[in-house]
Parts: sequence; C-alpha cells; structure tokens
Amino acid sequence: MSITTALHWRYATKRMNGAKVPTTKMDIILDAISLAPSSFGLQPYSVLVIENEAMLEKIKPIAMMQPQITEASALLVFAVWDKITSEKIDTYINRIATERNVTVDSLNQVKEIIEAQLKNSDSDNFIWSSKQAYIALGVALVAAAEEQIDSTPMEGFDKNLLDVLLNLEEKGLRSSVIMALGYRDTKNDYLVNLKKVRREKEKLFITLN
Ligand SMILES: Cc1cc2nc3c(=O)[nH]c(=O)nc-3n(C[C@H](O)[C@H](O)[C@H](O)COP(=O)(O)O)c2cc1C
Repeated sequence: MSITTALHWRYATKRMNGAKVPTTKMDIILDAISLAPSSFGLQPYSVLVIENEAMLEKIKPIAMMQPQITEASALLVFAVWDKITSEKIDTYINRIATERNVTVDSLNQVKEIIEAQLKNSDSDNFIWSSKQAYIALGVALVAAAEEQIDSTPMEGFDKNLLDVLLNLEEKGLRSSVIMALGYRDTKNDYLVNLKKVRREKEKLFITLN
C-alpha cells in the first residue's frame, strides 16, 4: 500500500471492536517508534505499552470516558523525561560509543553540543522533549496505517491523573500524548464513512518562488 493510500485509509478511530492486534503487527509499530528521528538522537521519552484490561478500565475515566481506551487492543502512552540530566546524556554517549565501536573521547564534541540543552530550564526541556515524542507519535500513526491497524492519537486525558496512576514520577517521566491501537467498529463509529476534512492545499502550502 502506498503511503498516501494508507493515510487516506486511516482516521482517528472513535470506536474500536475489541479485537486483538497480533504481536507481529505490534512489533512493527513499536519498531517504527524506535526508529523515529529525534533531536541529537536522544529519544527523551519512553513509551508504555498497556494491554491489561483492568488498567485500561482505570484509564478510561481519566480520558474523558473515551470508548477507544477500553475497546482498543493496546494503549501507548508517550511519556517524556521530566528533566534532562548529564547522567542521561552520558548514558546516550556511552551507547553511541558501544554501538559504533568508537571511544567515548571521540564523542566529546557531540557531548558538548547536547549538553548545551542543560542550560535550559526543566520545563523548557520538557516541552522540547515532548516535541520529540510527537514525532514518534506521527511515525507510529503512519506505521499503524501501513499495517492496516486502526489508531487514535489522543490528548483528551488528564495528564496529572495518568502520571499518578502509572507511577510516572518515580520513573522520571510525565505523560505527553497517548495512542489507542485496534480495529475500527464499522457499525458504531460515526466517522467510518465520513469524508476526511483538510485545509485547502493552496492555504496549507505557501510556495515561495
Ligand atoms: C495530538 C492529537 C490529539 C488528539 N486527541 C484526540 C482525542 O483525545 N480524542 C479523539 O477522539 N481524537 C483525538 N485526535 C484526533 C483528531 O481529532 C484527528 O486526528 C483530526 O480531526 C483529523 O482527523 P483524522 O485523523 O481522522 O484524519 C487527536 C489528534 C492529535 C494529532
């Protein structure tokens, strides 16, 4: 399927039918997330994969009772580093050194560039990290569509309550955006046959010649 066909096929699914997404397809979507680009390659987030039904029941009231939460096969929670620390940067630099078989010293310049990020406040860095997580969300949405798995990107939830429920603070994380994965309920989803609405291309794109 071409990427455009996949993007026309996908929509923010409002009702899902509870069917399980096979592990092979979940793995492809999670792989795509892990391959998403991020500034410096830092990936300043973790993605919680929640399939436990009891946990999804607890999340639903935190997410405005949106039915997809419990009708989905899995819920991804994009949870962002609450702060960027020199330890986290060191861990990343060491990882590059190991993966590429180079010395840590040879990465000093890269490290200095990334460390400039430490000059910002924790709240600015949290916003910056959230932007990185949204790129991963976008990649996940496209990957799911390509695999004919329905999804809903969701900001309609109480971040503070979700953080408490998932003990994110003790993991040094804060929730940013969530994504339901599953299969559309063609009988009950009012959006199934509605035309996609997008801004006119001549307004969306400004070509400078
Ligand atoms: C960051 C983000 C947050 C969203 N939050 C919700 C949400 O909480 N609930 C929901 O049903 N749809 C949510 N949406 C879906 C949008 O409403 C939808 O993507 C948009 O209307 C375009 O429609 P389409 O995705 O079906 O093409 C969200 C989309 C994005 C990108």
